[in-house]
Amino acid sequence: MRVLVTGGSGYIGSHLCRLLVERGDEPVIVDDFEQGDRRRIDGMPSHELELAAPGAATVLAELMQTEAVDAVIHLAARKQVGESVARPLWYHRQNLGALTAVLEAMLATGVRELVFSSSAAVYGDAHGIVTEDSPTVPVNPYGETKLAGEWLAAGVARAEGLRVTSLRYFNVAGAGWPDLADTAVLNLVPMVLERIDAGEGPQIFGDDYATDDGTCVRDYVHVRDLAEAHLAVLDALPRQPEPHRVYNVGTGQGASVRQVVEGIRRRLPDAPPAVTRPRRLGDPAAVVADVSRIADELGWRARHDLDDILDSVIDARRAEIR
Ligand code: WQD
Repeated sequence: MRVLVTGGSGYIGSHLCRLLVERGDEPVIVDDFEQGDRRRIDGMPSHELELAAPGAATVLAELMQTEAVDAVIHLAARKQVGESVARPLWYHRQNLGALTAVLEAMLATGVRELVFSSSAAVYGDAHGIVTEDSPTVPVNPYGETKLAGEWLAAGVARAEGLRVTSLRYFNVAGAGWPDLADTAVLNLVPMVLERIDAGEGPQIFGDDYATDDGTCVRDYVHVRDLAEAHLAVLDALPRQPEPHRVYNVGTGQGASVRQVVEGIRRRLPDAPPAVTRPRRLGDPAAVVADVSRIADELGWRARHDLDDILDSVIDARRAEIR
């Protein structure tokens, strides 16, 4: 199968492309290479394209035709929450503009199957375990673009007979291969490592939440498991009964910030002790995925736990230092 992967040179996309190649499928990558890295997709066909730019749909359709694409996995997006608050208009244009181009190109070429990368950010200030039917109330423009993206894709799927699956990723972490580790410093694990590398104690934003140890609880899912979820979806899409289906992708297990920080410190014995900071604005106390839908319907479940995630990150870090 030839699979168009937008954002294929990114952290998640490159894991997915490598798994596709491993199982004999052929990824065709479209990326603006702004955040991505060509070294992660060495030897794979790739095209540089800004999907939100005027005229991108036409260029993409031509490319999909030439490359004989069978299905699309659309990961390309801007994903910085803070930046989205500062530049809401740009975020909507970028993320919805890119998705619009992808859908238009699919209609123009007759490609019917799409996996859309959504986010737990659609749930906003959720509490505890969230199912796909929990209220969706995003609390920042980033989350809004993901929810609006689901609606857009669902509407087009219904009207045009496409099959679309939206995956709501929880907190993605880890490295499936050392060279594909997350190079951005936007989330907890890379932020902890950056502090330690600078000889400073990792920061804990708030330890007075109503959780077991007072720090925020999240559902950390190994990036390799997440990538495998896309393959399960891809295989099931032709038989998906409705035009649009949504799945949470997490482990169903919560881990606290303190557990993550101490887990990393245990693996790096010289790391300075953690320092507690004030709460970060807008952080919900605990958000964990209910993962029964994807397990029941597609047979996918995460195979790695927090220890595996942290081991993989430390291995990747050692490989980089060598
Ligand atoms: C996790 C926890 C922090 C850094 C965000 C987006 C979401 C998704 C993933 C995707 C929080 C705490 C962090 C640090 C800390 N986006 N923390 N010290 O906020 O759950 O989700 O990223 O594309 O849409 O909202 O993830 O990794 O930023 O934070 O204490 O140095 O770690 O306060 O409780 P979050 P995160």
